[in-house]
Formats: sequence, C-alpha cells, structure tokens
Amino acid sequence: MNAPGEGNTVGDGGGALSRRGTSHWAGEPVPVLERRWGVPLVEAHRTLGSTNDRLRELAGEGAPPFTVVVAEEQTAGRGRTGRAWHSPPGGIWMSVLLPEERTGRPPLTPLLVGLAVGRAIGDARPVLDPRIKWPNDVLVDGRKVCGILCEGAAGAGTVTGIGINVAGSMKELPAELRSRTATLEEVGGAAPDRPLLAGRVLRQLRELLDPPPPRIDAELGAELKALDALAGRRVVTSEGVRGRGAGIAPDGALLVETDAGDRIRLVAGSVRLCAER
Ligand code: BTN
Repeated sequence: MNAPGEGNTVGDGGGALSRRGTSHWAGEPVPVLERRWGVPLVEAHRTLGSTNDRLRELAGEGAPPFTVVVAEEQTAGRGRTGRAWHSPPGGIWMSVLLPEERTGRPPLTPLLVGLAVGRAIGDARPVLDPRIKWPNDVLVDGRKVCGILCEGAAGAGTVTGIGINVAGSMKELPAELRSRTATLEEVGGAAPDRPLLAGRVLRQLRELLDPPPPRIDAELGAELKALDALAGRRVVTSEGVRGRGAGIAPDGALLVETDAGDRIRLVAGSVRLCAER
C-alpha cells in the first residue's frame, strides 16, 4: 500500500520484482543505503501497512536473501500474538528476508535477531547497556525499545520484522504499555542516526545468521548470558507458571526454575517480568 505520490518503480536492481516505494529513507537515497548496508535490494516507503506484509510479497516473487523493506511510518504494524505495533515517524520499521532455518525447535532466529539488535544498539551507544528478553525483545533500563516478529514465507526464507523505537516519545501508547516501552532518545538523551543504526543491525544479522547456526555455541552462550534480562529475575510464563529465569539452553529454549522447584524449558510463548525481585 503506497502513499499517494509515491513512485511505482525505483531503479532496476530488483530484476523481475515489482519494486515500489520512494527514492529515499531517513534522508538517504535508496542506492546509497543498499551500498552502505551491503544488501542486494532496499525498498523504501513513506507510509506502508506493514513492512512484513510487503516483504512477504517480494519473497514470493523471488527476492534474494537480505532484501530489506523500510517505512517511515506503518499504518497496520503488527506485533507478536496479533497485537498492533505503534509505528509513527521517527522509528526504524524494517523487515529483512533471512535464510530459513532447516532445523530448530525452538527456532534460533528470533533470539539471534534480538542479539543482533542488542549488539547494534550497544555499539552505537555503549552507555545504553541493552539487554535481551527471551525470546526476542530488546530492553534498555528495563523498558522495551525493540520488538521482533519472525514469520515464515512459504519456503522463501524468514520474513523478519524489526521495530526499533528511536526518536520521540511513546506518549500515544496506552498507559500500561507506556511505562514498559521507551524510545532510544528517551533512555539515551539523543536519538541515534537511523540509517547508521539500521546498517549496524544488518551487519550483525549477516554475522549471526548467514547461515543460521545449528545451535548456540559456547561463545554466543556466554554473550547471551551476560545480556539476559531474565537471569535470576522473577518471571511468569504465558501459561501462568511462576519462577525465576535460569538462563538460555544451547538450543535456544528458556530455562525457568519454578516456584515448585522444577526446572522447565520454554520453547514457545513468552514470559513477563514480575515487579518483585
Ligand atoms: C513485538 O514485539 O510484538 C514485535 C513487533 C514487531 C514490529 C515490527 S516493525 C517492522 C515489522 N512490520 C510489522 O508489521 N511488524 C514488524
């Protein structure tokens, strides 16, 4: 869904793909973004329903891995479990076509995408000290600054939607979400440059997921342990089980020590951090 006034075709780098959108994103020309980000194809939009939906269309037309769709604003941004994702101008609303995992239950891609964003934010602003909340949120000061939505594309790869709240405030969100959500500008005092930050994310995605690893090795495991927002913290699972985060297993499962004294593995769903320590 293009905004009125957007061109229909941008360049010819996409071959037979039905490329649409605008010529710039965040003030940078699309060909410059493709070169700096080291990706085969960027499609930029001023306004789009959801970058994930548009990338799935491109994947169906044969778009190559690491094709990127970005929008200044989404009118129907989607989050996990069918929630709406608030996507006003000023954020990074981006979808990337990642190579599909052949094995993996739980899939490692969402966790490693979270790690890629955490690394990128930490590299851009070390003082922010980002944490990963399993399976794939990125928190700064306990508040969510990034959400990730991975969706299959019928054998054409994994459509990976990344939403980073960069500039402005979350004041339009409902009150109960506002206290748990922030922009990087709110937590860091200044908004990072969006094209640079998106480029750091894409570089980390290539390093971590091209190709997707079969499991988390010792080095990655140590990094995830250091960044784990849930380790030792009181949590409640989406099934209502209460306990404490006990780390991430090499296959990507979340470990929880329950209040009943059991150690359980979560391979799907999510957990909520409890206020009490
Ligand atoms: C979540 O935390 O619930 C996941 C949020 C994912 C939001 C991103 S923004 C870019 C992409 N397009 C969408 O419609 N959603 C994802």
